[in-house]
Amino acid sequence: VKKLALLYEGKAKKVYTTDDANVLWVEYKDSATAFNGEKKATIAGKGRLNNEITSVLFSKLCEAGIPNHFIQKLSATEQLVKKVTIIPLEVVVRNVVAGSLAKRLGIPEGTRLEKPLIEFYYKNDDLGDPLLLEDHIAILKLATSEQIAVLKELALKVNDVLTKHFADCRVRLIDFKLEFGVDAEGAILLADEISPDTCRLWDMETNEKLDKDVFRRDLGSLTDAYETILQRLGGESACT
Ligand code: C5P
Repeated sequence: VKKLALLYEGKAKKVYTTDDANVLWVEYKDSATAFNGEKKATIAGKGRLNNEITSVLFSKLCEAGIPNHFIQKLSATEQLVKKVTIIPLEVVVRNVVAGSLAKRLGIPEGTRLEKPLIEFYYKNDDLGDPLLLEDHIAILKLATSEQIAVLKELALKVNDVLTKHFADCRVRLIDFKLEFGVDAEGAILLADEISPDTCRLWDMETNEKLDKDVFRRDLGSLTDAYETILQRLGGESACT
C-alpha cells in the first residue's frame, strides 16, 4: 500500500489516503491535549507509545472477534486501518467512578459501579462534547436505535475483553472512550484508538494512575506511565 494525500489532521493523529480506496494510513503524533485543546504540549515518544499500545489492544480485540478497523502496524508510529465514516459519538464505558462522572454526580473517584455504565457524548468541539441521551441522538440523527443497540453491545464486549486483559497485566481498567464507524457495506466497526489517552488505567496494587490523567493533573512523566502500560501488555501483533 502506498501513502498518498493528507486527509485529516487531528489533535493526536494524521490520517492519509492510500492507493487502496478502502484503506487509510494513520500516523500518531507526539502531541498531548486536554480540556478540549486548552492544555497542549509536545511529548517526545508519545506517538510511538500510543501507536504500539493501540496496535496491541486492537489485535487482542481482533482475536476476540470484535469487528474493528485495524489492519496492521506499519512502523513505530504508523498503522493501516480500514476506511470508515466515523459516527460522531464518543461511547464511554465506566467500571469505576472517575473524572467527569465523579464531578457530575458527586460520587468519590474510585467508587466501583455495580455494573458497567455506558454514556454517549456528542463529538463536537464547538459544543464541548456534551453528554447525550438516546433521544438527543435521535433528534440529531447521529445513529438509529438499531445502531445504538449495536454500539452498546460492542462496547460491553470490548469492556469484557479489555478488563480481563488489563487485569492479567496488573492494571485496572477504570473507564474508556470508544469511537465507531460505518464501512462501505454499512457494517459498524470499532475505530479510532484505544490507548492511555482514551482510557483510565490504574495500577492494580497501588492505584497509581498510568494514563492521560498524569498529563491532565500534572502528576509526573506521561511517557513513564505509558511505557509501563506498554511493557505490561507485552509485544505487538497484526490482525489477520
Ligand atoms: O472525562 P471523562 O471522565 O468523561 O472521561 C471518561 C473516559 O473517556 C476517560 O478514560 C477519558 O480518557 C476518555 N475520554 C476521551 N476523549 C474525550 C473524553 C473522554 O478519550 N474527548
